[in-house]
Amino acid sequence: MNVVDIIIKKRDGKELSREEIEFFINGFTREEIPDYQAAAWAMAVMCRGMTPTETTFLTMAMAHSGEILSLNGVAENAVDKHSTGGVGDKTTLIVQPIVAACGLQVAKMSGRGLGFSGGTIDKLESIPGIRLNLSKEEFLAQLKAHGTVLSGQSGDLAPADGKLYALRDVTGTVPSMPLIASSIMSKKIAAGTHTILLDVKVGNGAFMETLPQATELAELMVAIGKQIGRTVKAELSDMNQPLGYAVGNILEVKEAIAMLRGESTAPDLAEHCLESSAVLLQMAGKAADDAAGRAMAREALASGRAFENLKLLIGLQDGDTAYLDEPDRFPLAPVIREIPAAQDGWLSEINARRIGETSVDLGAGRVKKSDPIDHRVGIIVHHKVGDAVKRGEPLFTIHANSEEKFTQAAERLAAACVYQSEPCPKLPQIYGLIG
Ligand code: URA
Repeated sequence: MNVVDIIIKKRDGKELSREEIEFFINGFTREEIPDYQAAAWAMAVMCRGMTPTETTFLTMAMAHSGEILSLNGVAENAVDKHSTGGVGDKTTLIVQPIVAACGLQVAKMSGRGLGFSGGTIDKLESIPGIRLNLSKEEFLAQLKAHGTVLSGQSGDLAPADGKLYALRDVTGTVPSMPLIASSIMSKKIAAGTHTILLDVKVGNGAFMETLPQATELAELMVAIGKQIGRTVKAELSDMNQPLGYAVGNILEVKEAIAMLRGESTAPDLAEHCLESSAVLLQMAGKAADDAAGRAMAREALASGRAFENLKLLIGLQDGDTAYLDEPDRFPLAPVIREIPAAQDGWLSEINARRIGETSVDLGAGRVKKSDPIDHRVGIIVHHKVGDAVKRGEPLFTIHANSEEKFTQAAERLAAACVYQSEPCPKLPQIYGLIG
């Protein structure tokens, strides 16, 4: 078998066999297939698509590129959640400690930023000392002893996804349904959990911009899960405006800490986290219905147990928990300045994609694989769609590492909002649940 033939076959829109997909993934994982050929293949998949059968073969090949954890005897009922990627999406940092504080075991494998969307691993690396590349043994031992663990791909777990993910991030091959489905589901299979909640984002700040596309992706992933005997549900959630107010790594970690300490007022973030927690609690059999799940989640937040659980997780993985108790310890970007509203009116659009792209330009994400991240930079969005604003009041606060970056970001953000003269409705948070 020859990798060039496989690239050409996909370029010409033909269906790859299981053997061809395995040959490609195994060769890429072992570094026998170089990045440039993998990038060409990913672009061919992006443009030509894959059948559900090919996507399942790809998922399994990526999952089996490393070890598949068995949670038998460790945490048979452990749950996992995963987002398809959005702007300002810090829900994992809130939902994981909430449900862990409610007694669920949570085994979470997360990713880095991808394109204009942020990633949990990049966000958590804002915390000094934290280790997020756990070995299989560490992952299992922490889960068994403490019921909560969060890791990125390591050499052991789904290494093919780790490599392909980094390449897709910088080659314009992120928004592909088979590549997203296989990336997420391979990690979920490798991490061994049987109960998985997927958060499929829909809107201009998501990789699936329309509800029919997002529904198709959700159904594809739920079907892959079912084929391999996992219980998977997918919620469809809005990503037409950033989730919460903060976009950028340290800014988002601080917003998550504030929400866990009862100090955040972001209504969409609170609603989203309560709903995801309630669904997970029901899936795991801890809550009889949505109302009971929400009540448990609220209690975990109000009592401070969820916040303590995040501290436990961070401390177990060598992160400095003093930053959670005193978020003012986090370093600030050197240039922090507000952008005022240009006119009076109601905000009918706060374009999540433009804000995500601006945040990447500020240095919160990568343009090349080797790009370092500046954890300090990002954007605070002071309003939600549907809010009334007055000319001159703060619309955004930009956190930049230079005057030049600030000016570029200010220019880009000027076009992110649409005003109208009549009141307009708020955006819904959840559009439905699949599975
Ligand atoms: N999350 C992932 O893990 N992979 C993707 O491709 C998109 C979101």
